[in-house]
Amino acid sequence: MQHLNLSQLQGPIGVFDSGYGGLTILKEIRKILPEYDYLYLGDNARAPYGTRSFDVVYGFTLQAVEYLFSQGCHLVILACNTASAKALRSIQQNDLPKMDSARRVLGVIRPTVERMAEISRNGHIGVLGTPGTINSRSYELEVAKLNPEIEVHGQACPLWVPLVENKEADSDGADYFVEKYIDALLEQDSQIDTAILACTHYPLLLPKIRRFMPANVEIVSQGSIVAESLKDYLTRHPEMSAKCMKGGGCRYLTTENVGKFEELASLFLGCDVKAEHVDL
Ligand code: DGL
Repeated sequence: MQHLNLSQLQGPIGVFDSGYGGLTILKEIRKILPEYDYLYLGDNARAPYGTRSFDVVYGFTLQAVEYLFSQGCHLVILACNTASAKALRSIQQNDLPKMDSARRVLGVIRPTVERMAEISRNGHIGVLGTPGTINSRSYELEVAKLNPEIEVHGQACPLWVPLVENKEADSDGADYFVEKYIDALLEQDSQIDTAILACTHYPLLLPKIRRFMPANVEIVSQGSIVAESLKDYLTRHPEMSAKCMKGGGCRYLTTENVGKFEELASLFLGCDVKAEHVDL
C-alpha cells in the first residue's frame, strides 16, 4: 500500500493569537480571502502574553506553531504583536529549518511597518502596544531597516488588554486608562500624525481611542494591512496557495473553556462561533 506523505496534503491556514485579539485580524483576512479554510488557535488559558518574558512567549508560540503544523497547516499567521515581536524571528531562523523548511510562519509587524511610510504625512509615528511588544523595540528596529527617516515612538498600554478581556472597553471607567496612555505617547512626541494600534485587541477600544486622540492623528488598525499583505503573499507564492485548502470554512480552537471563548469571540467577530478545546 502506498503511504501518503501528510506534509504534501492541503491544510487550512493557521491563525494564532495568545487569545481573542487575533480574531480582529482573522475577520479582515476572511473578508478579502474568503475562499480559504482557516484554523484559529487562541492560547486563552495562558494569555495574556503581553507581560511575559521573551523565553516564555517564544516557548508558548513555538508549541502553538507545532500544533497547527500537526493539524495540517502549511502556513501560520502569528496574529499577535507580542508573539511576532518575541518569537517570530527565532522560529523562522532556528526552528523552521529543523521542523519543515517548506512551511511558513508570518507575523504582523513587518506588513505594518511596510505601510508606515505611505500612511504618515510627516514621518512621526506612534506605536501603541503591550509592554512586551514595546519593550522589544521591534517596530523601531524594523522601521530603521525599511524607512530610517521615520521617527517612531512606542507607548506600552498594559491595561488595555485587560479592559477588553473584561468587557470594559465601552465603560466610563476605561476612559482614564485610554486617555493616560495616549497622553503619555503625545508627551514623547507632540508631532505624531499617525498612531498604530500594534496590539490585536485594541481595535475594540477604537471609539474611545478616537475620542482622546487629537483629531489630526490618523489611527491605524492592522487587520486590513495584514490581510492585504497575506493576499499579496499568496499571489506571489502560488505553490503555497495550492497547499492551502479552499472550502471557505473556519474552525476555532482554544486552550481555555469553550463556552468562555465562544462568548468573548462573538464580541470580537460580531457573530456566534462554535469552538473546540485543545491542550498544547
Ligand atoms: N493580542 C496580543 C498582541 O497583539 C496581546 C494580548 C496579550 O497580551 O496576550 O500583542
